[in-house]
Amino acid sequence: MNRVYLDHNATTPLDPSALEAMIPYLRETFGNPSSLHWFGQRARAAVEEARARVAALIGADAAEIVFTASGSESDNMALRGAVAKATGARRRVVTTAVEHHAVLNTARALREEGHPVEVARVNQDGRLDLDDLRDKLGDATLVVSVMLANNETGALQPVAAAARLARERGALVHCDAVQAGGKTSVDVRALDVDLLTLSAHKLYGPKGVGCLYVRRGTPLGPLVRGGAQERNRRAGTENVAGVVGFGAAAALVPESLAKDEARIAALRDRLEERLLRVPGARRNGSGPRVANTANVSFEGIDAEALVIALDLEGVAASTGAACAAGGIEPSHVLKAMGFPPERVQSSLRLSLGRTTTEAEVERADDIIVAVVGRQRK
Ligand SMILES: Cc1ncc(COP(=O)(O)O)c(C=O)c1O
Repeated sequence: MNRVYLDHNATTPLDPSALEAMIPYLRETFGNPSSLHWFGQRARAAVEEARARVAALIGADAAEIVFTASGSESDNMALRGAVAKATGARRRVVTTAVEHHAVLNTARALREEGHPVEVARVNQDGRLDLDDLRDKLGDATLVVSVMLANNETGALQPVAAAARLARERGALVHCDAVQAGGKTSVDVRALDVDLLTLSAHKLYGPKGVGCLYVRRGTPLGPLVRGGAQERNRRAGTENVAGVVGFGAAAALVPESLAKDEARIAALRDRLEERLLRVPGARRNGSGPRVANTANVSFEGIDAEALVIALDLEGVAASTGAACAAGGIEPSHVLKAMGFPPERVQSSLRLSLGRTTTEAEVERADDIIVAVVGRQRK
């Protein structure tokens, strides 16, 4: 069966050139980057080259990049690392209702541990309500965490504006840019953030490697303790091959954005336009968003059953966050946008990628329209 993969927000395929770059570090160049000998130093050089490449992608200095084992770890580290260095009354964590669970569940755990936590609202488009954020900020605010692109709707958040408000109150700013990396340009200086998360597997790199940008001078404690790796910020022998793959994937992004962003947006729009002609279909969110994501609800349809039926026909799609799929937890993102449960439960996420073709989009459209029609009968 010729399968159509429209779930690039869950994960992307490894770029062939990233794989090529990784292979030597899984074979002969196996040294530990902390070792003083030739084997170690070759691995060290590769890790540092990758660090420079990832830094270049987001306008950071190489010394500001801390490699981690995932976007989730980076999000945990951003919040917990900030809290670990909190002094005086400045202890409050402020985030938004549509963050990934890596941020939201960390914030919840911090609240259970006694830290004040506030969650700012979003509007019907899933965009952060800046007035509500302003109301929730105060002189006790330690860190504000706002994502750049939402994983379920693709909605772009006003991170730079949120950062300005946070700065006025003297708070640190963290941005989860996992779903923005590789899909749109990300610049830590333009966003004016102190901390920023990326994950390699969302931008055609390998799974199990991410990074946290830590602006020079930011007070941040470690999450993983042990050796002195990553300038004492994150212990553990580096995932050399993974880091090299991340660097190689990051280096491909600027050219790919120039080549693919508009093409992917046009394909997404065409896919969505046709789906929206199905009676009872509605687009979830209408504000600015990344090029590759569509989120559409089909009245009267159970999205989980739809995803399973689509899979049988060769179309890979999703009901929302990958971690929520498989469970029956309704999307907290669509709920926060104010949609009633029926609409949340009937929402399908389609996310295109670099290799998505026009023919694939047409086939997927035909299949989705047919399956929705069948399920309605
Ligand atoms: C917005 C966002 N943040 C964080 C993560 C977690 O990244 P990872 O899968 O590398 O742990 C994801 C993954 O879906 C995500 O979409």
